[in-house]
Amino acid sequence: MHVYCTDLDGKTHELQATDEWTVMEIIREGGIPILAQCGGSCACATCHVYVDPSWKSKLPEPSEEEVGMLDGAFEVTQDSRLACQITFNKDLDGLKISLAPGSV
Ligand code: FES
Repeated sequence: MHVYCTDLDGKTHELQATDEWTVMEIIREGGIPILAQCGGSCACATCHVYVDPSWKSKLPEPSEEEVGMLDGAFEVTQDSRLACQITFNKDLDGLKISLAPGSV
């Protein structure tokens, strides 16, 4: 299973994805630098990513906590999510995301 992650230079990386890992952990394990300063506690917004619009409906809605934390992130769009709050599963095989400014 894979996640496709586009970095700030526009290069797309095919990352090995593991069931039950967060997308933030998958990005890190794939060797892509992502700040993720709070380590996945939904307390920093430095794991901000943009989810490809074609995948948005396949993700659970963000929690109030995530929405609140995204309020303080840079360049938030309707595609913004926190990578540490998305838990990967087989239905997300092929998920496409892009790193957001402030996450690297
Ligand atoms: S790693 Fe801090 S909010 Fe995701």
